[in-house]
Amino acid sequence: MDVDTGTDDAVAIMLAGLHPELNLVACTTVNGNVPVENCSDNTLRTLDLIGRDDVPVYEGLSQPIARADFPVPRAIKKDVQVHMAELPMPAARSKKQAMSAPEFLIKAFAGEHRDAVLVPVGPLSNIAAAIKLDPNFVNNVSEVMIMGGAVDKSNITESAEFNIWADPEAAQVVFEAGFKKITLVPLDATHRALVSLDQCAAMRALGTPAADGAASVIEHRIKGYQTFQPTGIAATAPVHDALCVAALVRPEVITTRHLNCVIETKGEYTIGRTVVDHEFRTKREPNCHVALDADRELFVTMLLETFGRPHQS
Ligand code: BDR
Ligand code: CA
Repeated sequence: MDVDTGTDDAVAIMLAGLHPELNLVACTTVNGNVPVENCSDNTLRTLDLIGRDDVPVYEGLSQPIARADFPVPRAIKKDVQVHMAELPMPAARSKKQAMSAPEFLIKAFAGEHRDAVLVPVGPLSNIAAAIKLDPNFVNNVSEVMIMGGAVDKSNITESAEFNIWADPEAAQVVFEAGFKKITLVPLDATHRALVSLDQCAAMRALGTPAADGAASVIEHRIKGYQTFQPTGIAATAPVHDALCVAALVRPEVITTRHLNCVIETKGEYTIGRTVVDHEFRTKREPNCHVALDADRELFVTMLLETFGRPHQS
């Protein structure tokens, strides 16, 4: 997983780290929700909380590949205090690795972890860096599952979703790279899988460290959404990144269409928009499977079942 932890990233990491049918190989971190050092620390805290400090964490890019001063991480924008620099979890016991995230990704997919799925749920800076560093990287990766973009929605500008907007040139590199299979899980799908305060209470009642931790961060998200981005349904929030992980084991949790997606990098009002040709207006070949819907009940059931399983902390 390539993460910018991040509240929903934390829930996604917990799901990947605890689901019995998944083997979380490593986390790489990237500038996004918070500066990359905080993302690494939050990732380590999350893994410690669920007793998965065996999962190595590699720190990646501290800024977008082409825009040195764009953007500031989301959490330190004065008017959008949605994300915390530190998650409400004890300080990390474990340490990040010395190798950089792009170097690790290149090495992992060229060797031992050739069969792994690459799951970027933050800005795509590390993935673009790996592509640029190693011409074989793209061919070594069999599948990419990305949280990002939007067809009919937006959440950072009037036309863009945060992960793509935060490093549009990196996203462009990724979508033009020729990966064998990309699945894109945009806001259109994640907003179909909202989690409610009542479901957080049910989660907390499970009594495990993961259930308690996930309930806290989702409740925090719900409060943020009530203030800044109302979902239209009382006391709910999307947990974007976790939906990507859920789809790895239960593909039917999302409904996809095979479509062409290009990234806007120049528009005055549209930088970072995922331009999806969903009515086949162009002759551009489909290059990704775009999730346009999600099964909310199945998603929440997966969270509850996985976090309710006994585990160490
Ligand atoms: C995405 O942006 C980040 O803030 C979240 O972690 C998620 O990956 C949603 O737009
Ligand atoms: Ca994220």
